[in-house]
Amino acid sequence: MNTFYLTTPIYYVNDKPHIGHAYTTILADVLTRFHRNEGEDVFFLTGLDEHGQKVQQAAEKRNVAPKDHCDEMAPRFIELWDKLHIKNDDFIRTTEKRHVTVVQKILQEVFDNGDIYEDEYEGLYSVSEERFITEKEAESGEFRDIKKIKEKNYFFKMSQYQQPLIDHINNNPGFIQPEHRKNEVLGFLKKPLGDLCISRPKSRLNWGIELPFDSDYVTYVWFDALINYITAVGFDSDESKFNNYWPANYHLIGKDILTTHSVYWPTMLMSAKLPLPQGIFAHGWWLSGESKMSKSLGNVVDPLGLIEEYGVDPVRYYLMREMVLGQDASFTMESFVKRYNSDLANDFGNLLSRVSNLMKKFFDGKIPTEEDDSDEGIAIKEKGIKTIEIMWAQIESMRVNEAIETTLQFVRSVNKYMETMAPWKLAKSDPESAGKVLFTAAEALRLSAVLLAPVMPNRTKVVLDTFNAEETGLEWGGLKGGVALKPHDVLFPRIDIKKLSQSVEPVQKKAEPDNVITFDEFQNVELKTAMVLEAEKVDGADKLLTLQVDIGGEKRQIISGIALHYTPEELVGKMIVVVANLKPATIFGVESHGMLLAASKGKNLTLITIDSDKVASGMRIH
Ligand code: ME8
Ligand code: MG
Repeated sequence: MNTFYLTTPIYYVNDKPHIGHAYTTILADVLTRFHRNEGEDVFFLTGLDEHGQKVQQAAEKRNVAPKDHCDEMAPRFIELWDKLHIKNDDFIRTTEKRHVTVVQKILQEVFDNGDIYEDEYEGLYSVSEERFITEKEAESGEFRDIKKIKEKNYFFKMSQYQQPLIDHINNNPGFIQPEHRKNEVLGFLKKPLGDLCISRPKSRLNWGIELPFDSDYVTYVWFDALINYITAVGFDSDESKFNNYWPANYHLIGKDILTTHSVYWPTMLMSAKLPLPQGIFAHGWWLSGESKMSKSLGNVVDPLGLIEEYGVDPVRYYLMREMVLGQDASFTMESFVKRYNSDLANDFGNLLSRVSNLMKKFFDGKIPTEEDDSDEGIAIKEKGIKTIEIMWAQIESMRVNEAIETTLQFVRSVNKYMETMAPWKLAKSDPESAGKVLFTAAEALRLSAVLLAPVMPNRTKVVLDTFNAEETGLEWGGLKGGVALKPHDVLFPRIDIKKLSQSVEPVQKKAEPDNVITFDEFQNVELKTAMVLEAEKVDGADKLLTLQVDIGGEKRQIISGIALHYTPEELVGKMIVVVANLKPATIFGVESHGMLLAASKGKNLTLITIDSDKVASGMRIH
């Protein structure tokens, strides 16, 4: 039997799940339901990433132990998946013993293979960011509390596998999908690949899996997390299960975690002498309007609110239909309602009420017994058979939105067929033909319901129940005539767009972002106007300038990372804005007493300047 092993990322438990997490999980659910229907031996894995700094910090913030934090957050994911009708085969949490054992086993193996070495690493460390930063980053002026730290750490010889990885990508065109992501990775691999620091001293971070060869360290969260994909299918615990499912058919991921999956993970597997996954598929972002949905922007859509208001199946349908796999998509309530009303209420739902109403009215509420053998009827049958084939090919090649559209086109053609044949008129002149038309339309509807069942498992069941066809499969001719229809509710009640404008608020209501400050906190920041008196480059740092500024008679020295944007000459005489009460810091050996304000995006940067004719230096800005 063909096996199909599909994974989602294991999500961080630092926060509750949002629509982006729901999306990847629903996508995996839809794909695995299709593959199950094809009779494949499916294994669908999802779970949680529970170690590492993010989780430790989230727990600290709430004043609970990390493990307690995880135990409290995990049910939020599990309950949401339950509500969304996710049928996963396993749910892995990286704090589980079965996983810890496997991670330590792999670490030991890679170590024994000579692929892990110890090194004294000396570098710039940002205490606020709790990580090593590059010289470039240090020069940017965006990091504070920079220390030079000398620390012993363990490194994985990732560089050693650079060429084998490039070869593997080139020899296996489906390994990284879609194509443009593959090219992105190959581009990244043009530069020399460094080794990967895979340890964290417990003095800095202790929420992790201990290195089997040095108990003073825990392993880096990604070295831990990626291994979940083999833990769950029985690596080192159930050999036959492991051989059956590994390598995975696909790791489904968002594009944010492409490098870890297509560079770290394959090289780790190469070192452990295990087969690589067959495919890594990176989808795009759900955007809120134009910007990425993110918690800090406060624009995340809460999946629970949507489900409560519109039902699970419409949400699943919208997410699957609206995103072209591999590209970004924009989530708006307006497009949700449009999609719902046109595809679900008008096309699909309407066909059911038409067919069942006419059977009630003209055929005693029973399904007629014969198929329509007119040209039009045969055309519907042929289109139905073709649809099965095309749709499956699209699913197999991960074109889910197209597969759905293929089925909807079929549904639309059945609606058209109904208009052309007008069985409500025929029923009076030629009841036999009217019965045949209704039978064919009902069979087409049944087939559409089976085709869409992986996307909308509940509402399609209503259709199948109505025609007593719950047990029928993906073939033309499953409908049995002569049986009474079961009553059904309106499949997809139309959404009134006017009502939406009132109801949309609670759904999209902006959560108060994490980073709000009070008025008093803002008042603590002393923003003042300052006149630039002198400016010069800092020796050995391309991006840094030393400025001498005047703040209302007080002379200050400020180091700033703006040398690529302004020449020293340009700056002299400008009235700028500085944070006057910033704790002094030493940057590249030079003291800095304050920070200046600038607007920047990407490579562009502009200083905030003030008209010096109107304002003197040293004035407070409120
Ligand atoms: O990265 N649009 O976990 P995470 C689409 N623990 N998908 C989105 C999304 C959005 N706006 N936001 C999130 C981690 N996602 C690691 C993974 S795997 C071994 C470890 C989805 O909680 C998408 O699948 O940050 C993305 O890759 C994932 O959530 C990131 O989840
Ligand atoms: Mg993330």
